[in-house]
Amino acid sequence: MEAERGRKTLYSAAQPSGNLTIGNYVGAIRNWVRLQEGNDCFYAIANMHSITVRQEPAELRRRTLEAAALYIACGVDPEKCTLYVQSQVPQHAELTWVLNSLTYVGEMSRMTQFKDKSQKHADNINMGLMDYPVLMAADILLYQVDGVPVGLDQKQHVEIARDIAIRFNNRYGETFRVPEPLILKTGAKIMSLQEPTKKMSKSDENLNASIFFADDKDTIIRKFKRAVTDSGNDIRYSEEKAGVSNLLTIYSVFRDCTVEEAEKEFAGKGYGEFKLAVGETVADKLAPVQAEQKKLLADKAYLAGVLASGAERAFKAARKTLSKVYRKIGFYQGE
Ligand code: TRP
Repeated sequence: MEAERGRKTLYSAAQPSGNLTIGNYVGAIRNWVRLQEGNDCFYAIANMHSITVRQEPAELRRRTLEAAALYIACGVDPEKCTLYVQSQVPQHAELTWVLNSLTYVGEMSRMTQFKDKSQKHADNINMGLMDYPVLMAADILLYQVDGVPVGLDQKQHVEIARDIAIRFNNRYGETFRVPEPLILKTGAKIMSLQEPTKKMSKSDENLNASIFFADDKDTIIRKFKRAVTDSGNDIRYSEEKAGVSNLLTIYSVFRDCTVEEAEKEFAGKGYGEFKLAVGETVADKLAPVQAEQKKLLADKAYLAGVLASGAERAFKAARKTLSKVYRKIGFYQGE
């Protein structure tokens, strides 16, 4: 690789659990596509993280492939980045085991996400749930990366990965590059269509609250028609008008215009017409992505090939780091 100025090695991953929404696209996938230009990116489908909460096996497998196909359909280019499935690279589990011995139960039990998920899954507070941040640290540290682009909710996990890296380096000598969290300005935060002060979530129980990648045009338009707005009638971005503002944001993202331009376009028009226009814009933008995803999913051999070559590239990089780790900590590796 030529030493281009500013070229960085980056790592990010997303769980394959849940059906992805347009909020995921705006928050994460769009950034993955952008960052693969000019950087060396590793992007994983973090299925090992997913099993920390109960999963239906057939569904987990299906969603893993659907996620891979969707990322590619959205523009993640397996020629430009390393796209792979976490469980296909055994070093993730192996390094996790080593890092476990440098991580304290106390610090893991204080992690925000662990506390949240323990509450939400009170009947299944398993070791994996508590170990989740260590697996994530292993993900990142295996690839000696400069930065980890994530949403704000994952910042604490990247910080613990840094702490663990520094701790290891202090104890055994320089081994891991200490990564920086790159907290992505998503530019736009997409809110629930039903409770516009809440983030759009793939796990929202109200299916009308979220636009899923898999939704067809009629569904999308119906959901936008039902979107909660205020009782006023002007289409203007403001804090008191959370619903209308959210629709303006969505429109501007999918239309590739500014919110001001969107406001101008709809000045003097009614909510009904506005909602229909947003729905149509989103549906028309998603249609080619859906078609491409479908095409990719129909060609299982192609997808398997792409993921196998991604896993192979990741494996080579990961093996190098793990072998160094094993040497440092005194694991016998033969002659
Ligand atoms: N925990 C992340 C999430 O749920 C996904 C993830 C797993 C990840 N491993 C990672 C993100 C490594 C960044 C780096 O969003």
